[in-house]
Amino acid sequence: MQVAKSVRRQGPAAAAENLYRRVARRLIEQIDKGIYRAGERVPSVRRLSEQWKVSIATVLEAYRLLENDGLLEARPQSGYYVRERAYPVPAEPDVSSPPGAPTTVNVIDVALRVLKTARRSEIVQLCLTTPHPEYLPVARLNRIAAAIARRDTGALHRYDFPPGLPALRQQIARRMLETGCEVAPDDIVITSGCQEAVTLCLRAVARPGDVIAVESPTYYGTLQTIESLGMKALEVPTHPRDGISLEALELALERHRVRACVLVPSFSNPLGACMPDDNRRRLVRLLAEQEIPLIEDDINGDLSFTAPRPKAVKAFDRKGLVLYCSSFSKTLSPGSRIGWTVPGRWRMQTEHLKYVSTMATPTLQQMVVEGFLAHGGYDRYLRGMRPVYAQNAERTIQAIARFFPSGTRVTKPTGGFVLWVELPPKVDAFEMNRRALERGIAIAPGPLFSAKQKYRHFIRLTFTVPWSERVEQALFTLGRLTHEMA
Ligand SMILES: Cc1ncc(COP(=O)(O)O)c(C=O)c1O
Repeated sequence: MQVAKSVRRQGPAAAAENLYRRVARRLIEQIDKGIYRAGERVPSVRRLSEQWKVSIATVLEAYRLLENDGLLEARPQSGYYVRERAYPVPAEPDVSSPPGAPTTVNVIDVALRVLKTARRSEIVQLCLTTPHPEYLPVARLNRIAAAIARRDTGALHRYDFPPGLPALRQQIARRMLETGCEVAPDDIVITSGCQEAVTLCLRAVARPGDVIAVESPTYYGTLQTIESLGMKALEVPTHPRDGISLEALELALERHRVRACVLVPSFSNPLGACMPDDNRRRLVRLLAEQEIPLIEDDINGDLSFTAPRPKAVKAFDRKGLVLYCSSFSKTLSPGSRIGWTVPGRWRMQTEHLKYVSTMATPTLQQMVVEGFLAHGGYDRYLRGMRPVYAQNAERTIQAIARFFPSGTRVTKPTGGFVLWVELPPKVDAFEMNRRALERGIAIAPGPLFSAKQKYRHFIRLTFTVPWSERVEQALFTLGRLTHEMA
């Protein structure tokens, strides 16, 4: 909450606060909530004194205080107005500095606990990276599903063994031209979501005990996979806009025997970072020198705020060392669980692992996604969504600037739908999560995104739900909680 300087100076000694200060504070809250916006008139002194049952002198004193603090301006013969306030855009967090040694991972328990409570339906959802149903082409997909089920009554019931439905693999091969990759349908293995794709690829290239280099902070699903496979994570310093630091990665490769890397080069989670093309080229060269495989998680690559989408790192790979993974969970339908991998050199191993782990990906879902891709809805759909997410990002960053204490930092992504927020150091993200849930708001605490639960004063906020007063109010409440805890 943007509290006027002289009001804020009073600190938590609310009981001792003068009545006029309390009036001023309440008015600030109403302005922050948007009840009175910049340029609008606040109630007359007489009206407010009647409404709030305080004396005219008290209201006058409160208005003068707010005028001195630059929140209100008095216009002769007209009354008091809310001033235009320029909220400085918060700075970005610094490049991360995780511990330099490989470590066992310990996030499954805490991640499951947080995510279970975050899923309650009545909650304001600023935690999950699942697009709101309004943002998905649900009606169109349902129509396609109904038509297929009518036409092909066996579609729901038969196996479609790995590598998956040929027609879907052909559509995906065509879509991958947008990423700069020319791959054949036979290079592709269909999976149950991107999570399975990454898991299969990790199992194909590494064994328990092996060291896997990841961005820091990184997606907890990747950490959970590393944990469940008994591997170790090496968290590498990462820039909030450009992604993993190649200098730090090079140093890490000199010091440790890294078996593989798992990175999200386009709109990473939780940073939203997007690696510049030049870095992608250098990354491929660096890893190729030591023949280290890269598992590229490109799940958010299509969600750039402006077209064209970034090239995949795989587009620079000449040695088959990049195992590309993605899915339609963030664009079409998370519940359909349709993902894929282009595993390069590990094509046969991955296909075999897919077969022994889940046998097949459901046929009907594969046919529905194939139908959607084939009939030309996907590009139009992306064109429609790009400005929506861009605007949601902008509004959320502005709300953070207005409602959170100065010193709060936030990333400025150019795609995806996550923001990484650095709160004042005293704020504990788990406690913040507890208090936010009590108030019906779900957030993701920072420690979920680190193998050893670093980032205790960070949170991740998502903007996958349509902007509304309820969302704005939730951000106001989070800002107020941060003020209290800082
Ligand atoms: C970076 C990243 N990879 C993978 C996944 C999991 O994707 P899927 O639902 O397709 O398995 C997510 C989901 O949030 C994600 O953010």
